[in-house]
Amino acid sequence: MFKKDGTAQGVAKQRLIETLAPSNKRIISDPYAERFVFGAGLIKLMGHPFAVWLTEQFMPGFHEHLISRTRFIDDLVKKSVANGIEQYVILGAGYDTRAHRLGLPSQVKIFEVDQPDVQERKRTKLTKVVPNIENVTYVSVDFNHQSISERLLLAGFDQTKATLFTLEGVSQYISKAALSLTIAQAAALTTNNHSTFFLSYVDKNLDDDPSACFGKGYPKASKKAEMIKSLSAKVGEPWVSLFTAQEIEKLLSQHGFSLQENTTLADLNTVYFTPVGRTLPEHHILKLEHFVIANR
Ligand SMILES: C[S@@+](CC[C@H](N)C(=O)[O-])C[C@H]1O[C@@H](n2cnc3c(N)ncnc32)[C@H](O)[C@@H]1O
Repeated sequence: MFKKDGTAQGVAKQRLIETLAPSNKRIISDPYAERFVFGAGLIKLMGHPFAVWLTEQFMPGFHEHLISRTRFIDDLVKKSVANGIEQYVILGAGYDTRAHRLGLPSQVKIFEVDQPDVQERKRTKLTKVVPNIENVTYVSVDFNHQSISERLLLAGFDQTKATLFTLEGVSQYISKAALSLTIAQAAALTTNNHSTFFLSYVDKNLDDDPSACFGKGYPKASKKAEMIKSLSAKVGEPWVSLFTAQEIEKLLSQHGFSLQENTTLADLNTVYFTPVGRTLPEHHILKLEHFVIANR
């Protein structure tokens, strides 16, 4: 198995599972996710209820947490496009397929940034016709050792265009200095126009006070906190950077971004899952990762 994409596959797997739900019950749909997931055929045979149940045995709320993150960003992308952004930079894109599944208008230029090996595998899986492929430019960057600025400009990034940046499920894998530099460069690249920066981050409480990262009554919260960290480390992608809300707000404001929203599954449960009759009980809420929107 290809080693460097363990976590990217993990997220794509949850998107595949959600896509198997009936259309009036699911909160996102990703028809391309199955191309990236090892064992996709078996998951499809299991179907949505059983696959979600299985995930729940491992960690209640894990599926819903990742899917609410996906939906939250899908909504942000659609809103940003409606408000006139013309460039979308997907930082640490992995097997994100928003470029192909959201019906984005052709005037929106998309840059996908990730490690070269992951991008190469992604491209081999997208050889069958996918919509909007002509508007996507792949830009390989290692956030820990390279800056996004030079690479994006070389790839055709236009500094005069309003831009959305999203960094989904990535900040925990890179150094704090690398995150700071990435935000600084996003700001520098868009000094002449409006930009929005989305990022998700893992709550520092996961180390300091794990019970704060789970709903009341969540079974074996401390043990689950250790388990999730050790699983990521085992697939070769350890969580090295955890943050407090204050740290994130300061980091963003240092670079001219003002925080608009900081949310978790605890808030999104009633927004996304209640309308489709899938409200999670409090003791299944996973709120270890925050979803943040900031504007410049
Ligand atoms: C958990 S995956 C998330 C992928 C995608 N954003 C999603 O939510 O489906 C983390 C992604 O970050 C990328 N990544 C991790 N460290 C990186 C680094 N130092 N430079 C560039 N990309 C990195 C990985 O290759 C992977 O695609």
